[in-house]
Amino acid sequence: MTSRRVSPISDSATRSLPQRRCVLVCQNRSCLRSDSDQVLAAFQAQTELPIFVSPSQCLGQCGSGPTVKVMPDDTWYCRVKVADVAEIVAQHLHQNQPVKRLLHPRFHLQYEAYEPPPS
Ligand code: FES
Repeated sequence: MTSRRVSPISDSATRSLPQRRCVLVCQNRSCLRSDSDQVLAAFQAQTELPIFVSPSQCLGQCGSGPTVKVMPDDTWYCRVKVADVAEIVAQHLHQNQPVKRLLHPRFHLQYEAYEPPPS
């Protein structure tokens, strides 16, 4: 077996590439039980956006689905409902502002929500 080296892409080359986003919507069992097929359809209906929407296999967050992952941002959303899709599209995909209330806390800690115990 021969190994093949792949040349790393330089930072400057990466920055010059267009940042076309990909929205992955889990279509595995747990997420499907929470209507992730409808979430996927709602994203796919957003035809005016230059994004690629794709069904995905399990994203490993089955207990908090439907799981949606936006790449290359590496943004994870949990418990996404059809009614949330318009907000994600308008706020995140159009204005580059992730929807905080839907961010998966495992990947996106939100310190402002933390209240220290009384001393
Ligand atoms: S079933 Fe959707 S994250 Fe595992």
